[in-house]
Formats: sequence, C-alpha cells, structure tokens
Amino acid sequence: MGVNLAVMGATGLVGEVMRQVLEDRRFPYGSIKFLASKRSAGKTLSFAGKTFVVEEATPDAFRGVDIVLSSTPASVSREISPMAAKAGAVVVDNSSAWRMDPNTPLVVPEVNPHDIDKHQGIIANPNCSTIQMVVVMKPLHDAARIKRVVVSTYQASSGKGASGLTEFDRQIEAIGKGQTVPPVTAHKHQLAGNCLPDDWVLGEDDYTEEELKMMKETKKIMGDDSIEVSATCVRVPVRTGHSESLNLQFEKPISAAQAREILGRSPGIIVLDDASKGQVPLAQDCVGKDETFVGRIRLDRSAPHCLNLWVVADNLRKGAATNAIQIAEVLAKKMGK
Ligand SMILES: NC(=O)c1ccc[n+]([C@@H]2O[C@H](COP(=O)([O-])OP(=O)(O)OC[C@H]3O[C@@H](n4cnc5c(N)ncnc54)[C@H](OP(=O)(O)O)[C@@H]3O)[C@@H](O)[C@H]2O)c1
Repeated sequence: MGVNLAVMGATGLVGEVMRQVLEDRRFPYGSIKFLASKRSAGKTLSFAGKTFVVEEATPDAFRGVDIVLSSTPASVSREISPMAAKAGAVVVDNSSAWRMDPNTPLVVPEVNPHDIDKHQGIIANPNCSTIQMVVVMKPLHDAARIKRVVVSTYQASSGKGASGLTEFDRQIEAIGKGQTVPPVTAHKHQLAGNCLPDDWVLGEDDYTEEELKMMKETKKIMGDDSIEVSATCVRVPVRTGHSESLNLQFEKPISAAQAREILGRSPGIIVLDDASKGQVPLAQDCVGKDETFVGRIRLDRSAPHCLNLWVVADNLRKGAATNAIQIAEVLAKKMGK
C-alpha cells in the first residue's frame, strides 16, 4: 500500500530537497517516480539508497499516479499540472501558477488545513516568504486580531533556484581568489557584497512580483481580506534561509510576553528569543530544519498594539518542499493509503 507518488521538477533545487524531506519524514509512498524536462530524461538520481532514472514529464507519465509534488517554473506548471489532474492525480504545486486561482486552495497546514478539501485536482503551495510569515501570524491573529503587517524580507540566493545559487557561489569563489566576478545572468545585480531590492520582475504600482505575492497570498491563506500587508522584498548574500522583519499591528492589546507564550505552544514554530544570550534565529542555523523560527519579539512603542518580530525559515524546506509534503501527508491519509 501507500500512495503512488511523482516528484516533478526533481532535478531542481526544490526537487532535490523534496527527496531529502520525503526520506526524513518517512513519507508513506507505495511507488515513486522522478520527472523533469526532456533535457534531464535519462539522467539518474539517488533516493532512499537506490538509483532512479529521471523521466520526461509527459501526459503518460501521470498514469496511475495519486499525488504529484511539483516544482517547475510557473509556465510549465500551467501546461502540465492540468494534464496530471486530468489523469486522476492531485498536484501539490510549488510554482506561482495557480496560487490566486479562485478554484485552487492555497494551503499552509498550520494555518488553513481545511482548505485542502476544496481542491479540484491542484493545490497550490504559497510563496516561500509568505509561508513563514503566516505560520507566525495565525496564532497571534487568533489571539488579538492582526489589522496590518509591515514586512521587510532578507531573502537567500537559493530562492532564485539552481541558477541563482550557482551564480552566487561563483561570485564568492572569484572574490576569494581575487579574480574578476563573472557577468551576472541569474540575479539582477552582483549579489556577493550587495543587498538587492529589485531581484524580481516589477509588477503593478512599482512593487515587485514577490512583494505583490506576499500582499495578496496572505489574505487568501488567512481567509481575511481585511488584513493589510505592506511588503519590501530584498535579496541578501545568504545561500539558504529567508529572514524577515515583521511589524504587526493588532486590534486588541498584546504584550511581547503573551506573544512569546502563544508562539511557543503553536505548531511548527520554535521561539528563540534571548538576545542577551545570543539566542536569535539565524539563517544558517535554520538550514535543514522544518520549523519556522521567531525571536526579537518586542513591543513597538511608536504605535498602539504593535509588535516587532524576527522570523527565519529554510526557504527550500518550510518555504517549499516541507510545506508541500505536509499537504501530501494529509492527502495520503484522506486517500486511505
Ligand atoms: N527556490 C525556492 O526557494 C523556492 C521556494 C518556493 C517555491 N519555489 C518555486 O518552485 C519552483 C522550482 O524552483 P527551483 O528553485 O527548484 O528551480 P530550479 O532549480 O530552476 O528547478 C526547476 C525544475 O523544473 C524542471 N523543469 C523545467 N522545465 C520543465 C519542463 N518543461 N517539464 C518538466 N520539468 C521542467 C527542471 O528540470 P530540468 O533540470 O530538466 O530543466 C528542474 O527540475 C519554481 O516555480 C519556484 O518559483 C522555489
């Protein structure tokens, strides 16, 4: 028994972490296959101590598959995910293709697991920066009702996929050897030694698409259109692990101590909040972890009922693979496998 699983985009950065998380969480699969583009068909990869041949993601590849864990570019998902759903599989998709589609649930299991039941063959995994933010917002919202969040992100190179991370590594290597940094092709500017406030496509009103995703997806996941979100997204010279500064404004009063206590007993969250002892969430310490880390919880004295927090998570795990696999775990149970 166990579900018949396909990992699509298996050769990418998220696909690689997907394999690791499936093993770590002992996902109950019966069969598993790994799909990518025509370019990768025939390549081999290892999983659970065995070697697998990568197959091209064609409509036939989804025959008999129960769940597809997909992490391809959005344009590819727009074409292929409906084919997989038509073949009878449920697709959990990491791309932005279906997130704001009214017929597609956008799910973070700690926040809105009930929305999984509304799927029509595709379930969207939210944007990585949004996932870690709403994991922290949800229990605080339940306690004191969030009216507005102002978020600034410090996002890692690996959020740009394999091409971004390879470019960043080459820049660091060249700088270390005193060589000329190679021309930039993946990130918008040289990332080594820089913070990039424009590393995404520009969208409406001069906001980047990443900022717009955080603003729109938060309302959909939280199921509350009244929550106002103001986002500034910045790429920083970190390999993996997104950090965020959150300023939350509440309807009701809430103290830093209350927030610490609420977050400390909430699922998927680890509170690391003793700056006097150097206990703060750091991107490097969060790599390879499934939880969202929160610290620097402080009262914002400049406005009523406001808190400041520092939130960190592994963008490839909770921001992508782990969240998708948590959804797949719920689906597998519902399928009775
Ligand atoms: N990186 C993150 O932190 C993160 C977080 C959340 C969500 N996401 C989203 O997850 C998706 C994947 O991101 P990534 O960082 O893993 O990117 P990536 O490293 O560039 O990998 C892309 C994957 O998609 C596959 N692919 C490309 N064209 C395809 C096609 N025509 N048919 C089937 N497969 C195809 C690639 O296969 P080939 O090797 O054969 O080209 C590769 O396996 C993106 O939509 C991204 O926005 C990423």
